[in-house]
Amino acid sequence: MSTPLPRRQFVSTLAVGGLALAAAPALLRADPIPAKVKVALIGCGGRGTGAIAQFLAACKVLGVEGEVVALADAFEDRAKRLNETYKLPANRVFVGYDAYQKVMATDCAFVLLATPPAFRPVHFAAAVAAGKHCFVEKPVAVDPVGARAIIASGEVARSKGLAVVAGTQRRHDASYLRNKALIDAGVIGALRGGVVQWNGTVPWVRRRAKGESDADYMNRNWLNFTELSGDHIVEQHIHNVDVAIWFLGRPPVSALGFGGRARRETGNMFDFFSVDYDFGDGVRIHSQCRQITGTAGRVGEFFTGAEGSCYGAGKVFAKQKYETPVIKLDTDDSMVQEHVDLIRGAYNGKPLNDARQIAETNLAVILGRISAYTGDLVKFDDLLKHEKSPYYNLTAAVGPLDFEKGTVKLPAEVPSIPGKA
Ligand SMILES: NC(=O)c1ccc[n+]([C@@H]2O[C@H](COP(=O)([O-])OP(=O)(O)OC[C@H]3O[C@@H](n4cnc5c(N)ncnc54)[C@H](O)[C@@H]3O)[C@@H](O)[C@H]2O)c1
Repeated sequence: MSTPLPRRQFVSTLAVGGLALAAAPALLRADPIPAKVKVALIGCGGRGTGAIAQFLAACKVLGVEGEVVALADAFEDRAKRLNETYKLPANRVFVGYDAYQKVMATDCAFVLLATPPAFRPVHFAAAVAAGKHCFVEKPVAVDPVGARAIIASGEVARSKGLAVVAGTQRRHDASYLRNKALIDAGVIGALRGGVVQWNGTVPWVRRRAKGESDADYMNRNWLNFTELSGDHIVEQHIHNVDVAIWFLGRPPVSALGFGGRARRETGNMFDFFSVDYDFGDGVRIHSQCRQITGTAGRVGEFFTGAEGSCYGAGKVFAKQKYETPVIKLDTDDSMVQEHVDLIRGAYNGKPLNDARQIAETNLAVILGRISAYTGDLVKFDDLLKHEKSPYYNLTAAVGPLDFEKGTVKLPAEVPSIPGKA
């Protein structure tokens, strides 16, 4: 059997004690949102550029001023490019793998984490330790150890009264919220199953530049390495699996999946996955994702209930008559709304804390990947609770701390092979 991700020693700084003890909730009071809200960004790429603009747009929606106080990126060119927009002084633009630590020492109240996912557990733990409210882009981890570290840091955030919002924007979208409300009202009866899909193209590939180090090549081409992205079932399809978990109100019990690769030209990820998620009580969700340019695309979710069916955000097919609930949000843009909800919650005494929720969804997609990489039927609790499971302490062969320490060794650019020879 080939291993889904090469295992290595348990990284104690990542594993903040497995499941944290239930933290006492902080006594929170409601305060007005300050006239000026200070924010910093870690990861100045495509999503970070969007997220910081959306955070500032959310400040406008809330009638306050947003101020960018620091930018950080592993690479100087990325940080400099974004700073052409914000024009911060040089001592507020941090570069390198320890740049996140310098952000934590600034006076930002909020920090947006938008690096490749593998770095999220370490960056999130540092942000929570520094008392920052956090926007954490999905995914938040690439392995079970990282996902459990997010849960543990989330409990610390709760005890400190910090707001944590994940970049699963469908949960802040009026159409999805409407269908969720209709399902909860029983309009299509108890959910029995469904299909969730992200079938599309390879988003991008970056080939190795002449003389480039292993670390630089791997990170600049992170979207094609499982160690940094989690593979596309984790990195991209997480959105659709999240909708299934949200609508059903629970994570899956187990997964049996397969996948493979024929077309991908760099890295070590699969081209496609097909996973049968068993949610218990006779409920099954089929998850399907593919990144092959030139094939039919379909992205979305479809659910079947005892008395009807519905899309994640679209049409509802119900036998009974029903009234469509009116979902009032602050903006039609779910990627601005998520920041409105983050900021508002940070001050109104009811901070959102998505840490456990996003970590559980993240574990579910890692579960699908492990099943497909190995050929095993894998249980959700093998990743969350069963310490003796061979998958419980799975960590990537190249981890975030290797980048900080400069000990990155490029993994083989070949995919896992399921089954036993
Ligand atoms: N919610 C959504 O719909 C959505 C959409 C796209 C991407 N994302 C997520 O956003 C994250 C970023 O994706 P992207 O498309 O912006 O990728 P990107 O490659 O464009 O940007 C990532 C940036 O992080 C920087 N970086 C890498 N390692 C770093 C480190 N250790 N410290 C500081 N900076 C570091 C890179 O240099 C790069 O500038 C990913 O987790 C991705 O899955 C979410």
